[in-house]
Amino acid sequence: MRLVRSVAELRIAVRTLREGGKRIGFVPTMGFLHEGHASLIRQSTARCGATVVSIFVNPTQFGPNEDLAKYPRDLEGDQNLCLRMGVDLLFLPEVPEIYPTGFSTTVEPGRLAEPLCGQFRPGHFRGVATVVAKLFHMVEPDLAFFGQKDLQQTAVIRRMVRDLDMPVEVIVVPTVREAGGLALSSRNAYLSTEERQRACGISQGLFAADAAYRAGERHPERLVALALERIRPISSVQYCEVVDLQDMQPLLRPVDRPAALVTAAFVGSTRLIDNVILGQGPDLHESGTG
Ligand code: PAF
Repeated sequence: MRLVRSVAELRIAVRTLREGGKRIGFVPTMGFLHEGHASLIRQSTARCGATVVSIFVNPTQFGPNEDLAKYPRDLEGDQNLCLRMGVDLLFLPEVPEIYPTGFSTTVEPGRLAEPLCGQFRPGHFRGVATVVAKLFHMVEPDLAFFGQKDLQQTAVIRRMVRDLDMPVEVIVVPTVREAGGLALSSRNAYLSTEERQRACGISQGLFAADAAYRAGERHPERLVALALERIRPISSVQYCEVVDLQDMQPLLRPVDRPAALVTAAFVGSTRLIDNVILGQGPDLHESGTG
């Protein structure tokens, strides 16, 4: 596995990897890699001739009062995981490599970025879309892999790729969960043992609503109420909504199209997000890999 820190080195290394017509798979990350990232890497190595992983804690997607400074890092562990998993190229840029002095051009994701997390994290999706667009231009991957846990992020990125004619296929990989159902996230590192157990109530609520959906319940407010029966007692809920899977807008009428139940909630001081695609069933929720 080769390590590169500059865009110039990255471009040369990717060009070499591409020789012989290999497809390039790309897994952009902010590091502190866990089994969720491993499942993205596994998909990439299975589907592409070469896999590039980036680790960059992107400052522009953090708000002023968020956890940029204390975001968990473990570069040695991350490198070992990538090596074990057969990653070909690891891109480890520093901030000035991505945002040189005078940087001022951004990608504005528009309506998809407004509800849900967008409402509580102003500018977050601008930061995500901008850095992902830059990384796509740097790596020029054929396929790029993202986790379903960040459902709104995947919708924003898919729309950006479509709207800006980026020649990359976005693959969304199902969420990987702990045995108790908690969605894997680097931010789980902030949870105490007791909070970690409590946090399982989030997925339990989502699964209960999904079971009701599969039994025929279609009213968004009843599905939300069912989820909140489990989520509210264990957390402070920021939002819990049934949304259209394509455009992330809340559904107010009975569900008549592909939809997801999405939530963000604080367990202690840790903000967690999770979702289920309604009707998908428990097997997919629990199996983890795609
Ligand atoms: O999902 C993440 O880890 C980040 O939002 C991403 C896509 C790597 C952009 O910084």
